[in-house]
Amino acid sequence: MFEIHTDPTLPKAQVYAELAASAKALVSGEPDAIANMANLAALVWMSVPGLNWAGFYRVIESELVLGPFIGKPACIRIPLGQGVCGTAAATGATQLVPDVHQFPGHIACDAQSRSELVVPVIVEGAVRAVIDLDSPELNRFDSTDATGIENLAAIVAAFL
Ligand code: SME
Repeated sequence: MFEIHTDPTLPKAQVYAELAASAKALVSGEPDAIANMANLAALVWMSVPGLNWAGFYRVIESELVLGPFIGKPACIRIPLGQGVCGTAAATGATQLVPDVHQFPGHIACDAQSRSELVVPVIVEGAVRAVIDLDSPELNRFDSTDATGIENLAAIVAAFL
């Protein structure tokens, strides 16, 4: 049993520092990637306010395949290069999308989503997964969110 004390009223950078510390504690000593991603999706959901979806897609052959998440049931398979997640996976670059309606090819798994942050998980130069955060608020994510989730991606890369 883990006690997680994340106060969402803290400054955002501190929320992400605590999220990283909790994430390391949660995955410490546990080699099962699915179990770890499930706990980390829950940790993001409880730590980061204003989300309607938080979770993982894994790169399997030439597709992204749905992994552990919190939110509405989502698209199971996304070709690399398609949508926000597929773009992050194909380019290896974080995608910070203030208005998903302006992103060509955005895949609307949940019609409520208005902004999105997708961060690739890179292991030895190859994208192995992405972390996807969706929000019903326009322009919900900024560079502090991107840096915080990139730090989480580095923790994920260590067990994938
Ligand atoms: N909107 C994403 C698809 C995944 S869902 O948001 C969970 C995209 O365009 O890749």
